[in-house]
Amino acid sequence: MTSFAEAQRWWGAAETILLRGGHLIDPAAGIDEPQDIFLRRGHIEAIAGRIGRDADLRVELEGLCIAPGFGDIHVHLREPGGEDAETIESGSAAAARGGFTRIACMPNTEPPIDTRGLVEFVLRRAQSAGAAEVFPVAASTKRRAGDELTEMQELREAGVLAVSDDGSPVRDARVMRRVLEYALTWDLLVISHAEEPSLSAGGVMHEGYWSTVLGLEGIPAAAESVAIARDLRLAELTGGRLHIAHVSTHEGVELIRGAKERGVAVTAETAPHYLALTDESLRTFDSVYRVNPPLRSAADREALIAGLRDGTLDCIASDHAPHTDVAKDQELEAAPPGMIGMETTLGVVCEILHHREGFSLRDLVRLCATRPAEIIGWDPGRVRMGGAAHLTVFAPDQEWEVDPSAFASRARNCPFRTWRLRGRSRLTVCGGRLTHQEDVEFCPSERLLTQTA
Ligand code: DOR
Repeated sequence: MTSFAEAQRWWGAAETILLRGGHLIDPAAGIDEPQDIFLRRGHIEAIAGRIGRDADLRVELEGLCIAPGFGDIHVHLREPGGEDAETIESGSAAAARGGFTRIACMPNTEPPIDTRGLVEFVLRRAQSAGAAEVFPVAASTKRRAGDELTEMQELREAGVLAVSDDGSPVRDARVMRRVLEYALTWDLLVISHAEEPSLSAGGVMHEGYWSTVLGLEGIPAAAESVAIARDLRLAELTGGRLHIAHVSTHEGVELIRGAKERGVAVTAETAPHYLALTDESLRTFDSVYRVNPPLRSAADREALIAGLRDGTLDCIASDHAPHTDVAKDQELEAAPPGMIGMETTLGVVCEILHHREGFSLRDLVRLCATRPAEIIGWDPGRVRMGGAAHLTVFAPDQEWEVDPSAFASRARNCPFRTWRLRGRSRLTVCGGRLTHQEDVEFCPSERLLTQTA
């Protein structure tokens, strides 16, 4: 078995690489068939049914799927300020292991990412840590306090593609209106953390049957739908580019479906935990299940799956929210909301959507690679000739047991511990570089072996 270190050494030294025998799924290019891919210095030189040319390094992908690099447009990396839970280095390593080549990190750090200087800090750190491309989402209001808009022109010039106060909503509707208008001027996506705080205050779980049985304070579905309705109307009013984060309710899906039918420029995501878990998990009183928005009812879960099926919901994002054991090992009321997700997203989505709900693998690639790239503006969300390769190779049927102690993430707040999932990421290529491989056959040429000996 080739170790990751050895594979990386060969990969880095090889002038040419042949990825042989994989099944390429690229919805944007309309490809869903076995294809070889030939790389020269990390750039794609040829894609064809069978490539007979010799390469310095041959990588055998028989039985595996190749997709455009998966993208996660909603993660929390905690740096600066929360490095005991996660860092840009550990978070981007978790991304690579999970099959992601690009991630967008939220600004609810300490201090919040609300200036050019902080954006540049994250970008510099990401460049040296390097296991994934990291795109900071900047705050839409200064300090995420909801009053004054950030300097969006400067943020855009520094490389920001989206703004959000995620972690909390923009409370004031008038401020949100201005955010949408101002962001439009600089062609920035506005990501809405849709929550009406006056309805969610004090709640620790979804308000419904189980909160009543357990005697826990609930968060009604309306805390989400009221906020989504507001932001959809504001997007209509302003023409701004709105993206609704972590949709968790049936009501939310209905509102977004209606808005799309009216032609509102809105996109939306949901997260794997809302597809795999419900509020019943809180029976255990285990704070690993506390998340915001909360795990909802079985009917909500079904509505989310229907929303993904008909395109009302555009994509999957992990909402990877690392917390330390010390923070999470408290009673529900005291523990912070959030769960990690980058290293389980591919498995959960494959298991739930593909194996149990009948989504095709092409649907999965659209939800995890094509649409995220289109929504946030990553180019390209497809496997493109000439470009530096961004590729995710995965085994859709491979069964594995979730063991958070083996994760690259610093955090362990994973709700899927001990779950058996079908679908595992096996090799990740980010910008032409090998960032993850597990159990893949690498065949170096004699020349490469001598060169790297
Ligand atoms: O559960 C959550 N955790 N929801 C959020 O909106 C923020 C996130 C975090 O940063 O921990």
